[in-house]
Amino acid sequence: QTAEDIQIVRFDKDFRSKQLIKDAIMDNDFLKNLDSSQVRELVDSMYPLEYEKGSYVIREGEAGSHLYVSAEGEFEVIKEGKVLGKMGPGKAFGELAILYNCTRTASIRVVSDSKVWVLDRRVFQQIMMRTGLQRLEDN
Ligand code: CMP
Repeated sequence: QTAEDIQIVRFDKDFRSKQLIKDAIMDNDFLKNLDSSQVRELVDSMYPLEYEKGSYVIREGEAGSHLYVSAEGEFEVIKEGKVLGKMGPGKAFGELAILYNCTRTASIRVVSDSKVWVLDRRVFQQIMMRTGLQRLEDN
């Protein structure tokens, strides 16, 4: 244990929500290679947030500190003012700034009142580190 350690808080969720988050992570090219215990911890640690129609979950160019999974509603991916695509429930997004420490590569705009699952960057890093260390100890 170090001073850097932060508390990982679990948020109870129903089976369908857990399944949706897990499927979204496994469907994301940058997250699909995490091992199953890491995925399970991510699923358990995500917490819900609601967004109103017209608001932004992510703004292009800003620093990023959260990873998201869409749960309800519709979202637009916008880059340099152009709509690149739309997505509905069951998509993980915001992973690029978290994984690569870059600024947000696109904006995510909420098209209809929406619900997302959220994970803080520090919790993500903690889960990545802890499970990695656990794996070393197990070998
Ligand atoms: P991030 O750069 O952290 O924040 C914006 C997110 O939008 C990004 O992570 C991806 O999850 C997502 N994103 C970026 N570009 C695209 C794209 N061309 N199509 C779909 N999603 C994208």
